[in-house]
Amino acid sequence: MTETTIKLQAFMSQAGIASRRASEKLIESGKVIVNGETAHIGQRVNPKTDTVICNGETITPSEQKRYFLIDKPIGVVSTTNDELGRKNVTQLLPKNVKERLYPVGRLDIDSEGLLLLTNDGELAQKLTHPKYEVEKTYHVFTKLNPTFNAIQHLRKGVKLKEGYTSPAKVERLSNDETGAWTEITISEGRNHQVRRMMERVGYEVEKLVRISMGPLHIDMLDGERVIELSEEQVQELKSDL
Ligand code: URA
Repeated sequence: MTETTIKLQAFMSQAGIASRRASEKLIESGKVIVNGETAHIGQRVNPKTDTVICNGETITPSEQKRYFLIDKPIGVVSTTNDELGRKNVTQLLPKNVKERLYPVGRLDIDSEGLLLLTNDGELAQKLTHPKYEVEKTYHVFTKLNPTFNAIQHLRKGVKLKEGYTSPAKVERLSNDETGAWTEITISEGRNHQVRRMMERVGYEVEKLVRISMGPLHIDMLDGERVIELSEEQVQELKSDL
């Protein structure tokens, strides 16, 4: 099975012709023609090169959905372009990616870590819309070790200019003479939220690394800067949301 072909009924449903089951019925009834020949159940097509006609109408393939995980470095903006001409995350993608992908959930220029780039708007919405409350976990480095009270305060919710933050999961990770790492998990996505939460309790963030977003985890990159999710990983991600 190569990545360039997909099941005919999947191609038809992605193009908005009918559900997969209804597309199978159309194929069975002989109403679907692939490259001039009547299609059969089980047939696969290459959306880029094969001509598929259903009920006399040529089916135009919808853009292939792609999903890349990136370990964003500091200094790169998580937008698709930047008026100041700084490097943006789409420039980290392999050169042969032709689809227009966009980042799901921003990371500040000074933040690093996990970022998903995709052209799947539905999935992006599920990962970022507040009503789905998808958890994002960050590792935060501060020069001072947050006190027990500060941690309790972060857990309960802190007052920002637009209101109180929802309860967060906060755990101490490690500390030495240079500073302390703390793990913070939130399910909101306000601008600069973690930095502002830490500032509110008296700590300036020196480093901010996103470790996970819902079922996506930085470890899935296995040390790489960029990976493309496989079809199986995408299915798993969707079923976990
Ligand atoms: N919170 C922040 O303050 N910055 C980020 O980049 C992500 C979460």
